[in-house]
Amino acid sequence: MDKFVIRGGNPLLGTVRVSGAKNAALPAMAAALLTEEPVILENIPQVRDIETTRKLLAAMGADVELGYGRAHHRTTICCRNLASPEASYELVKTMRASTLVLGPLLARCGRARVSLPGGCAIGARPIDLHIKGLEKLGATITQEHGYVEASAKRLRGAEIVFDKITVTGTEDLLMAATLADGETLLRNCAREPEVADLAGLLNKMGARIEGAGTSTIRVRGVSALSGAKHRIIPDRIEAGTFIIAGALTGGDLNVAGCEPRHLDSILQKLTEVGVKIAHNGDSVRVFGDGDWKASDMVTEEYPGFPTDMQAQYMVLATQAKGSSVITENIFENRFMHALELVRMGASIKVEGHRALVRGKTPLSAAAVLASDLRASASLVIAALVADGETIIDRVYHIDRGYEHIEEKLRGVGAQIRRIGEMLPKKVAAPLVRA
Ligand code: UD1
Repeated sequence: MDKFVIRGGNPLLGTVRVSGAKNAALPAMAAALLTEEPVILENIPQVRDIETTRKLLAAMGADVELGYGRAHHRTTICCRNLASPEASYELVKTMRASTLVLGPLLARCGRARVSLPGGCAIGARPIDLHIKGLEKLGATITQEHGYVEASAKRLRGAEIVFDKITVTGTEDLLMAATLADGETLLRNCAREPEVADLAGLLNKMGARIEGAGTSTIRVRGVSALSGAKHRIIPDRIEAGTFIIAGALTGGDLNVAGCEPRHLDSILQKLTEVGVKIAHNGDSVRVFGDGDWKASDMVTEEYPGFPTDMQAQYMVLATQAKGSSVITENIFENRFMHALELVRMGASIKVEGHRALVRGKTPLSAAAVLASDLRASASLVIAALVADGETIIDRVYHIDRGYEHIEEKLRGVGAQIRRIGEMLPKKVAAPLVRA
């Protein structure tokens, strides 16, 4: 298992480029299941969740061509023959977003068999709202042996009100509704930019969707969708992670290729804390002068402060003067990083879904364990400002969603390297002479 070795203390200086959004790329790849024609996706990040999705689609019979060379962020997917509309436990267990294939498979093939995802490090993550919505569209769904089995001759449009806002749930239902008979009205939808990006792709494929990016989405079903070419939006969470890292290291960092409009709640909160930020087109420049004041933060659905930035914000809170209360409203168990940060010298008390962070406490290097994707990012940021050499174990979590993070950070002055597992050297077999 790979580890990161990070020596703290270097300011991040220069320009770092943001990759395409993993959370927009995953539903876009699933959307290719809705058509027999090729779908070309640009700005696909080279991260492990994309590779998992490639395997998932290929196992169903799709041709997935990941670009290489100069076109290495382009992916072409052709789902002409879907021999096996199934998502196995082996793949779903490593990436819960695999359940995004449920709606499109059902709409295109009339049946789907998808493993239930089970729990994960940050919470229970049920998919009951996906199932309830698909049943409203006329699907028959049973659950057996850990799998969801769904069937429907043709889905029928319906009005669906989500009991709770769900990002992949909205995306799953949106995709299913594009090929349903008649009109579907989705209410209490997720308003994340990734949902709007998916709707943009689906409309290019011939779908008739209005209102994506707001809480009510109207879909007029069509009988078939065609291929399309689409560019994935920039990753707002990767951008936010670099912005906090730039500020905390006392750097002068230009985070390029992002969409500042998608970063509103993050930039507003960081400005409240005293981080100096300037925008210029698709870049955000951040300066760190080390004079930050504590500010409470609550995670919310978009356009609120994203739960995917909570762990990174917590590191900033450890370096701000005063006490910050961080409230996690989206997932029930998303403070695993807090305990690791305490081992590095932070003062954090977790009570239920709240964490009280007392700053400012110096951070010191330690051996720490990454527990999930965004927790890993917070440990990398903490290590960049800690005194000494931090070793982060289980960085496969970070590889799920951050493209070559160590190369990007090294490019702006961080001392970070990846080390693989040290295997005992093979002893050469003695030469035997006849
Ligand atoms: C997506 C993002 C993830 C982000 C999260 C919240 C992707 C691939 N992942 O995850 O990075 O952290 O949104 O912004 O886009 N829930 C139910 N029943 C359901 C579905 C969800 O109770 O059927 C609950 C969840 O347990 C959670 C809340 O709703 O408490 C929000 O989850 P959801 O928005 O669905 O998260 P994901 O789409 O899995």
